[in-house]
Amino acid sequence: MKITIAETEKRFDELAAWTIIGQMLKKPDSVIGLSTGQTTGNMHKIVAELYKAHPFPTEQVRIFNVDELINLPRTYSGSCYDMILRQIVEPLQIPLEHFIMPETMDVDYKKESRLFEEALEQAGGADLQMLGIGWNGHIGINQPGTPFGSDAWVSPMDPIFEKRVREETKVAEDYPLGGLTLGIRSIMKMKRVVLIAKGEHKAEIIKKALKGPVTEDIPASVLQLHPCCEVLLDAEAASLL
Ligand code: GLP
Repeated sequence: MKITIAETEKRFDELAAWTIIGQMLKKPDSVIGLSTGQTTGNMHKIVAELYKAHPFPTEQVRIFNVDELINLPRTYSGSCYDMILRQIVEPLQIPLEHFIMPETMDVDYKKESRLFEEALEQAGGADLQMLGIGWNGHIGINQPGTPFGSDAWVSPMDPIFEKRVREETKVAEDYPLGGLTLGIRSIMKMKRVVLIAKGEHKAEIIKKALKGPVTEDIPASVLQLHPCCEVLLDAEAASLL
């Protein structure tokens, strides 16, 4: 696995942004998977700024996010749909019909998971996935214990993230929340995966995922077996390697 360590957070954001842009330039009809969260906000901003300064063809690019919250409207500002729409799809003028995302409300989620997977396959499969990692090693929303053979499915969220979503949305305590996520097998099928992490709080899990045993207890550890996985870290996230 090629591991790139950026000296600063700013450099990390720039390198990650250029990874996305580079893929679009190399293959203008690329199918590109993104992740939401604190890791990706700045890199998406840089992608949008560079596009504005130096526009390049984006009409054939297909974009998706690796996961989405369910039972919440797309208009909720914390939905992945809303974030990727505002951060990438709209600023880069990517046609809305090229934004591949599952429905989030009032649907049969099993069927929706299958349709999400099929839509990506019909588009030719993901050329690139920029993949974040959670504090407990989750990728997408696949929590520790998720079978490596999983396809897209609805997974529980990690408890810390779920608490935040519940506070932000003020839904009732018993209101069902979860995340529709591409599964571990879906991620392993992608042509190229770039695992991204920044900050000291990711150092411990990065060490476990990259240097520890491949185990379902640390979902990201499966990437050690991916034929084309690169890792991009800032110096803090890489500090225990
Ligand atoms: C959430 C998202 C993931 C993301 C992870 C890390 O679980 N659903 O896609 O990779 O958080 O988020 P952050 O970058 O904020 O640490």
